[in-house]
Amino acid sequence: MIKKSIISSCVLVSLFFLFKSFYEKNSLREISSKSNFNVGASVLASPFLEDEQYKNILKRDFNLITIENDLKFAKVHPQRDSYNFVIPDLMVKFAKENNMKVRGHTLVWHATLPDWLTDRKYSKEELTNILKNHIQTVVGHYKGKIYAWDVVNEAYNDDGTLRENIWLQTIGPEYIELAFRWAHEADPDALLFYNDYSNEEINKKSNAIFNMAKSLKEQGVPIDGVGFQMHSSITYKKNYEQIKENFKRYENIGLKTQITEMDVKIQHSNKPNQERLQDQAKMYSETLNACLASSSCNAFITWGVTDKYSWIPDYTGKEDAPLLFDTDYKPKPSYKAVYRALQKNLK
Ligand code: XIL
Repeated sequence: MIKKSIISSCVLVSLFFLFKSFYEKNSLREISSKSNFNVGASVLASPFLEDEQYKNILKRDFNLITIENDLKFAKVHPQRDSYNFVIPDLMVKFAKENNMKVRGHTLVWHATLPDWLTDRKYSKEELTNILKNHIQTVVGHYKGKIYAWDVVNEAYNDDGTLRENIWLQTIGPEYIELAFRWAHEADPDALLFYNDYSNEEINKKSNAIFNMAKSLKEQGVPIDGVGFQMHSSITYKKNYEQIKENFKRYENIGLKTQITEMDVKIQHSNKPNQERLQDQAKMYSETLNACLASSSCNAFITWGVTDKYSWIPDYTGKEDAPLLFDTDYKPKPSYKAVYRALQKNLK
C-alpha cells in the first residue's frame, strides 16, 4: 500500500517537472511568430498596472494584446468634450516595447455607453456627428499604432435581425457601414473587423453576419474581416465542421477571420475537476484547429490571461476557470493543448 502511494507520488512529481521544463523551454508566442500567426490575450487595467508576473506572461506567450475595457465608449470618452487615453496609451506603449500588435476594442457597441450619451435623446444629425467624431478621434489618436479594430461589436440578435440600440434607433442600419468608412478615413492602414458571439457555427445569426460582411465588401466598404468571440462552455458541444465551413466561406470572399475572445467555462459540468480541465483543453485545441484549417483565420486570442482575473465569475456569479493559466499563473492542460495545435499546424 505504502509502496503504491510512493510510486504514484513519484509519477506525479515527475509529471510536474516534465510539464514545468516543457513550459520553460517553449512559448505560444515563439511557435506562432515563426508563421506570422497572431496569438493574443485581452488585457485589463488593474493587473496591467500592478502585477509584474501578469505582464511577464503577456510578453512571453503572446505577440498581440487586445485592450479589454479601456477603449470602450464610456471609458475613453467619459464626457461629451473629453477623452481619456491614459491607460490605453500605456498598453500601446508596452506592446510597442515588446514588439506586439494591438487590437482596439471596440468603437460601436450597445453596452458601456457613458451617461451623457444615454441620459437624453439626440437627433439623427447630432448622434451621427457624435459617432463620427468619436470614431475619428479614437482611431486617429492611435493611427499607425493599433493594428486592428473591432469597429462594430454585437450588432445582431440570434435570429439574424439587427439588435435594437441607440445607433440603430437614431441613425438607422447604415450606422454599421458609416462606422467602417469613418474608421478607415482616420487610419487607412488599420484592419477593420465586425465582431460578435454565437456566430461561429452555421445559424441564422452567422448567416446574417456573413451576408452583411459580403455585401459591405461588394459595395467597397472598408471591412477586412469578422471576429468570432468564442466564449464557450465544455457542456455545449460545438460543431467543428460547421465552424470550418464558416471560416471557409469568408476565405472564399477574401475576408479574414479571427478568434477574438475565447474562454471556456467549466462550471456547468459535474465531472471531477481534472476531467473538466481535459475537456476544456480539447475544446481549445479543436477550436484552434478549425481556425488553422482555413487561410482566412490568422489570430487566436483568449479573453484574459489567467483564471485569477477572468470576467466569467463576476458575469455568471459562479466560480470558474476558463483560461489557459490558473490562478497561480501555472499553464493548464488547455495551454499545452493550444501549444500542440500550433505546433502541429504551423510549419
Ligand atoms: C467584458 C469584460 O471582460 C469585463 O471586464 C467587463 O466588465 C464587461 O465586458 N463581449 C465583448 C467584451 O465584446 O467586450 C466583453 O468584455 C465580454 C463579452
